[in-house]
Amino acid sequence: MKHYTSINDIDNMHCWIEEAKALKANPLKHIDLGKHKTIGLLFFNSSLRTRLSTQKAALNLGMDPIVMNVSGDAWGIEFGDDTIMNGNTAEHIKEAAAVVSQYCDIIAVRAFPTLTDKALDESELVINAFMKYASVPIVNMESATGHPLQGLTDAITISEFATKPKPKVVLSWAPHVKALPHAVANSFIQAMQKMDVEFVITNPEGYNLNPSITANTPIIHNQKEAFKNADFIYVKNWSSYTDYGKIMNTDPHWMITKEKLGNAKFMHCLPVRRNVIVEDAVLDSDSSIVIQQANNRTYAAQLVLKKILENL
Ligand code: CP
Repeated sequence: MKHYTSINDIDNMHCWIEEAKALKANPLKHIDLGKHKTIGLLFFNSSLRTRLSTQKAALNLGMDPIVMNVSGDAWGIEFGDDTIMNGNTAEHIKEAAAVVSQYCDIIAVRAFPTLTDKALDESELVINAFMKYASVPIVNMESATGHPLQGLTDAITISEFATKPKPKVVLSWAPHVKALPHAVANSFIQAMQKMDVEFVITNPEGYNLNPSITANTPIIHNQKEAFKNADFIYVKNWSSYTDYGKIMNTDPHWMITKEKLGNAKFMHCLPVRRNVIVEDAVLDSDSSIVIQQANNRTYAAQLVLKKILENL
């Protein structure tokens, strides 16, 4: 594998999940694979899980990770073509990506969307510019429209906790005080579409996600109906896709409660706002598997890095 930028880079979800489970059982088995190889983790936005789990994954493979908060610490990067750079940007992505490629064997990038310019966000300007101008493989640590390391993690976690061959998985919108990206929901949808699960999405009217991603997955606007017989309830807020980046609804009745959860397992990518997205009684119960889910971030990242290293 050359790059990992989308769930579409997973050729066989079942095989990838089994490989990730094998890595989890023996994380240091390939400790020599990444010896004398460096991964650069470039963050245009905040992170806890992605930053630490990707470093841990690299260390488990014997790699040397170097980390930079690009937005705060680097020169302002220009992404436009033919720009007269007499404004706030001091360095063009053409040089920046080429230079980082001199120091790193793999570059991983996190760059969130604007949520104001749909066309710009869907062009995946930042991650595509790194793919174009870097000379080494690129890993997406959450871009404008996708979070494929999280989506792979979620697939691994559902496979681990499933107690029947074809579990019912529900992706539910929940309220939030800020306008949030679509990336986690998009990659979760794409991951579930590659798994043998009964999958439905539930969200209020006006919150349907990109139809080219939801495709044939049923969207039910009645949360109670969607939750019937659910084995896994994956909760996430996202801002409107049609009225791009806007908050259309903050109805607290969409918050997840213990009563609504029933016998299902609760999942969330984290960070999560308690008693806004989900009540304490859920997060503090054995029905919540968010910590186990976060643990799997390491093995999802480790699998991706292993596949790239094997192809260097
Ligand atoms: N789930 C996730 O990507 O967490 P961070 O934003 O903390 O990396």
